[in-house]
Amino acid sequence: MVTAYDYTSALLADRAGIPMILVGDSMAQTMLGFEDTLPVTVDDMVRHTAAVVRGTEKAFVVADMPFMSYQASTADALRNAGRLLKEGGAQAVKLEGGGAAAIETVRALVDAGVAAMGHLGLTPQSVHQLGGYGVQGKTSAAASALIDAAMELEKAGAFALVLELVPAELAREVSERLTIPTIGIGAGAGCDGQVQVWHDLLGLSVDFTPRHAAKYAEVGATVLDALRRWADDVRARRFPTDAETSHLKEPLDLGSKTLTPPD
Ligand code: KIV
Repeated sequence: MVTAYDYTSALLADRAGIPMILVGDSMAQTMLGFEDTLPVTVDDMVRHTAAVVRGTEKAFVVADMPFMSYQASTADALRNAGRLLKEGGAQAVKLEGGGAAAIETVRALVDAGVAAMGHLGLTPQSVHQLGGYGVQGKTSAAASALIDAAMELEKAGAFALVLELVPAELAREVSERLTIPTIGIGAGAGCDGQVQVWHDLLGLSVDFTPRHAAKYAEVGATVLDALRRWADDVRARRFPTDAETSHLKEPLDLGSKTLTPPD
């Protein structure tokens, strides 16, 4: 699974044969320039999900439920998940957390016919409660609580589970205990699948790339170089050349003047 937030990226991910695209609320940071994922709205998610779906032929599209679109009530969760499916065209939603309320919400969504993906470990919507973006599940108590929550999410009907920033040994243990697939990010090689953020994977995160991300390209550097060379060519009047230009085929009479085609 890879994140994508727009039509062109989705088209490329789909053509690359990646089976699942996540319209992540990481969009708040990667696309909208916010500090964290909290400000992204359901309207933002619906619009970007619809763009991703338009670029997708085969991939299964999962849309993140934004902060406070599902925590306050089950009714909110159902209404907002409904929007992501009906207006955005997503095939599933993802929501963070493994507390009793999150598990009940997953159950309610699944009862209503919505495919729901869970997300445990580092849950970025709780960044202020967690005190940052550190690795989770490092004590026996935290690890046991995470395993219990994973089992409860599976029982509630979640069809898959993202494990973000947890020790590899714990992620492997969870993956072995569950029958649904785990999808890891910074959770080691023992998960059933892996997810990466588009900008991290492709070298588009200009100022910071997290340790768990391997850059498979330097797209940011390529774009920067292309933009600089183009701007230099414009300033030096090397662009446009005749190849990018159209000319008159017949003379144009402007009254006081006639414009003529080139020889
Ligand atoms: O929003 C996101 O990009 C995510 C991934 C990190 C799993 O939730």
